[in-house]
Amino acid sequence: MNKIIALAKNRGFIFPGSDIYGGLANSYDFGPLGSELKKNIKDLWWKTFVRDRKDIVGIDANIIMNPKIWEASGHIDSFTDPLVEDKKTHVRYRADHLLEDAEINASGMTLEEMGKIIGKKGIKSPDGNELTTPKQFNLMFKTFMGPVEDKDSIVHLRPETAQAMFVDFAEVLRTSRKSIPFGIAQIGKAFRNEITTGNFIFRLREFEQMEIEYFIAPPKSKKDWEKHFNNWLEEIRKWLDLVGIDRKLIKEVDVPESERAHYSERTVDIEFEYPFGQKELYGLAYRTNYDLSQHEKSSGKSLKYKDLESGEEYIPHVIEPSMGVERTILAILVSSYKEEKVKGETRVVLALPKTIAPFKVAVLPLSKKEELQKLSEDIRADLSKSFVTDYDETQSIGKRYRRQDEIGTPFCVTVDFDSLEDKMVTVRDRDSMKQERVAIDELESYLKEKLS
Ligand code: GAP
Repeated sequence: MNKIIALAKNRGFIFPGSDIYGGLANSYDFGPLGSELKKNIKDLWWKTFVRDRKDIVGIDANIIMNPKIWEASGHIDSFTDPLVEDKKTHVRYRADHLLEDAEINASGMTLEEMGKIIGKKGIKSPDGNELTTPKQFNLMFKTFMGPVEDKDSIVHLRPETAQAMFVDFAEVLRTSRKSIPFGIAQIGKAFRNEITTGNFIFRLREFEQMEIEYFIAPPKSKKDWEKHFNNWLEEIRKWLDLVGIDRKLIKEVDVPESERAHYSERTVDIEFEYPFGQKELYGLAYRTNYDLSQHEKSSGKSLKYKDLESGEEYIPHVIEPSMGVERTILAILVSSYKEEKVKGETRVVLALPKTIAPFKVAVLPLSKKEELQKLSEDIRADLSKSFVTDYDETQSIGKRYRRQDEIGTPFCVTVDFDSLEDKMVTVRDRDSMKQERVAIDELESYLKEKLS
């Protein structure tokens, strides 16, 4: 993990946010390469699940929504974590996490049960102090909207992107003219006032989600919703392959009822073997018609779907694949980081899938001689019309290859003195390290084919 964090920081993928002011607890900024990687992942997700499919449409909704939404969705009452406070330092901790640290499985325990065990086993805070009894703590960030700061102007930053897909359901249905089954997708920021953060970008307070609410007819039997649920499980598996997440490090875990979110009838956590342990990467949930029913009741507006063939009217049920962007990036970095011995030296490679690599090609003049620079710059300018291209002329060619390997650039194009005569360049493949001489005229089509 330390190697990945160091690479991410040193090569401008991800570094601590607000760093010159001493940072801000567990906040990270995505640098030049990280922001490219992130954008490529989100674009690929949007292409895969929205643009390439006939049955899913996208939205881009507000982060701050009407407070009644969070009452109806159950987040005000149920989106909570059990907390205890260090009686001396007043620092708060997740009670269930302290129990897990003491090798006690806290899943399904009530606050009272957790409190009893903490007392009985004499579990202390990490600073060795007594703890208060556990209390529920709401994870939503609050702020005020408008000029007056009172309880009527309290609004929340959304803790999941999902609710917008429910409250916009009727409008999307009317304008997109889709029929059931169909989905609404969104990529956007979500905020949670997590108590236990850490593990780099695994658990953040500000993060991005890529979510789909897939609306289906009310199931007549378990088989009806299970069919859609299993289809989505398969779609998630295909997505993992597409972005280069190592399937050998994936476990699909059926979440027991006691640990499921209040809206879920079945949840499968897609867990990943991170260097710090096996933990959730994505979630797939059968949310029944809980959310649409709640919003219909609370808003007084119909959120029913009318089947034009049968004339039947109903509130659709929902299957929800939910994916975090930052956890995707972490799992990709872990899956693609490789160290290899080459001629007695260690070569670090990020074997990123070509579609998501920040740079597709790097142009490297063999020396800083003016005529080589000019030809290389012309090649770079040409290639950058088709690919995100880097240009590097400092240090030895070997060191420059290593630098591009480390950031996952699939191809390097070396321009040497022969290039001035024979109008050919050397193309080096990141993974095989094989080199091939290619005519400058054919370079673009050669790379297009290799990168397709
Ligand atoms: N709409 C359903 C939902 O929000 P969730 O399991 O709470 O379900 C979905 O979150 C996904 O969002 C997770 O699987 C994870 O990828 C990501 N996620 C959740 N909390 C996160 C956090 N604190 N930091 C980073 N990613 C997080």
